[in-house]
Amino acid sequence: PRVSRSSKNEARRIFVRTFGCQMNRYDSERLVEILGGEHFVVVEDYRRADLIFINTCTVRDKAEQKAFSSLGRLKTLKRNRPELVVALGGCVAQQYGEELLVRWPHLDLVVGTHSISKVPAMLARYEVTGDRQAWVDFSYDFGDEPDGRVQPWKPEVSAYVTIMRGCDNFCTYCIVPMVRGSERSRPSREVIREVESLIECGVREVTLLGQNVNSYGQGASGEVNFAGLLQGVAQVEGLLRIRFTTSHPKDLSPTLMRCFADLPQLCPHIHLPVQSGSDYILHRMNRGYTRDHYLRLVKELRGMREDVAVSSDMIVGFPGETEEDFELSLRLLEEVRFDGLFSFKYSDRPQTGARLLNGKVEEEVKLERLQRLQALQERITLEKNEAQVGQTTLVLVEGPSQIGGSQLSGRTPQNRVVNFKGSPHLVGEEIPILITVA
Ligand code: 5AD
Ligand code: SF4
Repeated sequence: PRVSRSSKNEARRIFVRTFGCQMNRYDSERLVEILGGEHFVVVEDYRRADLIFINTCTVRDKAEQKAFSSLGRLKTLKRNRPELVVALGGCVAQQYGEELLVRWPHLDLVVGTHSISKVPAMLARYEVTGDRQAWVDFSYDFGDEPDGRVQPWKPEVSAYVTIMRGCDNFCTYCIVPMVRGSERSRPSREVIREVESLIECGVREVTLLGQNVNSYGQGASGEVNFAGLLQGVAQVEGLLRIRFTTSHPKDLSPTLMRCFADLPQLCPHIHLPVQSGSDYILHRMNRGYTRDHYLRLVKELRGMREDVAVSSDMIVGFPGETEEDFELSLRLLEEVRFDGLFSFKYSDRPQTGARLLNGKVEEEVKLERLQRLQALQERITLEKNEAQVGQTTLVLVEGPSQIGGSQLSGRTPQNRVVNFKGSPHLVGEEIPILITVA
C-alpha cells in the first residue's frame, strides 16, 4: 500500500484548486461533499494536504497552460512526501485521460468530467494497490448521482445548482462538447429538491448552471422546459433570488424572456454571450444568429424589464476576422452598452472546426484588438456604475469583502458587487444600500 492510514476514522486533508467555469466550481464543491463522507476535511494550505485535487479547464489554451503549471509545481512536494495523492480533474483530465499519467509521473489520479462520484472508489483502490488510474468514460449520467448536493460544504448565501451538462451546439471554436459530452438535463424534481435542501442550510440565492440553459428539458419526454423549471424553482419557500447561466442567443425564447417580467425572484441579469459583432464571423463560428437578431433580443429583454443588466463574452481574432469585422464588434459594444464583458483572444483548440479554418490572425493583432475592446468596455462599465451613484439598491449580503477592513460585500440584483461597512450579522440579509462611489 502506498498510503498508510493509522486509523480508519482519522480525518484526512484535501486541498482543491479550481480553474475555469462555475460548472467546475460546482463539481469541486460536490467532490468536497462526497469526500466529507470519507472523513476528509478541507485545508487552505496545499502543503498540509493528503490529497491535492486540481480541477482544470481547457476552454482556451491559456487555461490549459495554467492547469499544467499548477500540476508541475507539485513535483517536489510529491517527491518529498510520496504518500501525498495528486489528482487532476475537469476538462484537461477528460481531454487527455491516461496519457497524463505517462507525461506526469507524480500524478496519481486522473478524474474525468463525468467521474467525480467515482473518486472514493479510485482512492480506495489506490490505497490498496498503489495503482495510478485514469477514469474518463462518458457512461455516467445524472441518474448515477446520489441526489446531487446535500448541503454546501461551507456556509454560503449563494450557491450553484447544475441543471444540465454537456452541449450539442458545436460552435466551431469550442472544445466543450468534446470534454463535457452531449447535452443531458437533470430531472426538474431533483433540481428543486436540491434547491430546497440548500435553503434549509441557509442559502438565499441559487444560480442554475448549464452550458446552454435555454435548451433545458429538450429531448426528455414529459419534462418541463427551462421557463417551466424557473417557475418551479421560484415556488421554493425562502428563496430570495434566482440567477442562471449561460444562455445561447439562438435559443432565447419569448417565454423565457417573459420570466423576467413575471417572476419577482428572478434577478434582472442575463449573461448572453455574443462572441462577435460581425455576421461573417458569427457564421464562421456556427452561432446560428446574426448581429441584428442579437440586438433585437437585447431590446426585447429590456422591454420586459427596463433595469435588466446584460453581460456577454466576446472573442477577438477569430480566423478570418478583419479590422472591419473587429470594428463591428466594437460598435456592438457601444450599441448594447453591456454591464459587463468577458473578452478573449481566440486560441486553437484540439478537435474543433475553427482549428482548420484559414485566415489565422497574428498574435500581436489579437492582443492589440483585445486591448482596444477592453479599454472601450472599461469606459462603458465605469459609466454604468457611475450612473448608480446616489441610488439606493437592494444588496444581498454575502460575507466579508475581499478589500478587507470591516467591509462587507454583496451583490445588487443586476449582479454588481457592492462593498460597504456593516455588522457581520447582516450576512444572508437583503438590505437597501445607498451607492456613494463607483
Ligand atoms: N478561444 C478563445 N475563447 C474561447 N471561448 C471558448 N472557446 C474559445 C477559444 N477557442 C470563450 C467564449 C466562451 C467563453 C466561455 O470562452 O467566449 O463564451
Ligand atoms: Fe472550461 Fe468549458 Fe470545461 Fe468549463 S466546461 S471548465 S469553461 S472547458
